[in-house]
Amino acid sequence: MNEEIKFVKPTTIDKEVSWDKTKTIMSKTDLYGTIEFVNEVFVDVSGYEDYELIAKPHNIIRHPDMPQIIFKILWDNIKQGNQFHAIVKNLAKSGRYYWVISDFEYIRDENENVTKYIARRRSVPQDIITNHIEPLYRKLLQIEQVSGVDASEKYLIGFLEESGVSYADLITNLILDEDKAQQLLQIKEKSPETNIEDRKEQKRGYFSRYFSRD
Ligand SMILES: Cc1cc2nc3c(=O)[nH]c(=O)nc-3n(C[C@H](O)[C@H](O)[C@H](O)COP(=O)(O)O)c2cc1C
Repeated sequence: MNEEIKFVKPTTIDKEVSWDKTKTIMSKTDLYGTIEFVNEVFVDVSGYEDYELIAKPHNIIRHPDMPQIIFKILWDNIKQGNQFHAIVKNLAKSGRYYWVISDFEYIRDENENVTKYIARRRSVPQDIITNHIEPLYRKLLQIEQVSGVDASEKYLIGFLEESGVSYADLITNLILDEDKAQQLLQIKEKSPETNIEDRKEQKRGYFSRYFSRD
């Protein structure tokens, strides 16, 4: 007997999931984005049980506020095995949202062909979302709703050309700038003498810790 369980997308609620933002949300998929494994943090934050997630497409947590063009860029990059970060608004089972920055890792076979994807996600500082990401994504979504993904892609290309960066670099820079601002505050408070090299090192450390494995 073919017992297909119907999946109903939650109705969105304009409230953030309350979660422990020091944690890393992890999932592993096959090459089509079908979920094969999730960690406990994923279960806690998304509100789904692991048995509801396994074997489901990753768009199970797709939020309707997310423009399609960001997922097109995501897939273009991970299919090439690039080092890539994306900022994504996800939809929990409760209908609430949670913003994350995602990092991708590749499992390869003996011939170096990618066989699985691993995504690790951390929380994103709120001012990056409010000042940079939300206005951009809102614009992209509006363009998509009126004129489709080709039009939002053209707009995004123009937007990135103006800043002279790729989408992945834009995200990396936003995180590093935020870190720099935080560090300058701390450095000023702690030791005004800290030199540039120490500061660079602190910056690198902060970014690599962002996606450290728990
Ligand atoms: C490893 C991996 C992790 C992903 N993580 C997410 C995620 O956290 N949220 C999300 O909406 N899509 C994620 N995706 C992308 C989805 O597969 C999908 O492309 C996206 O949700 C858009 O869905 P749609 O193409 O059906 O509109 C991930 C894909 C992969 C391969």
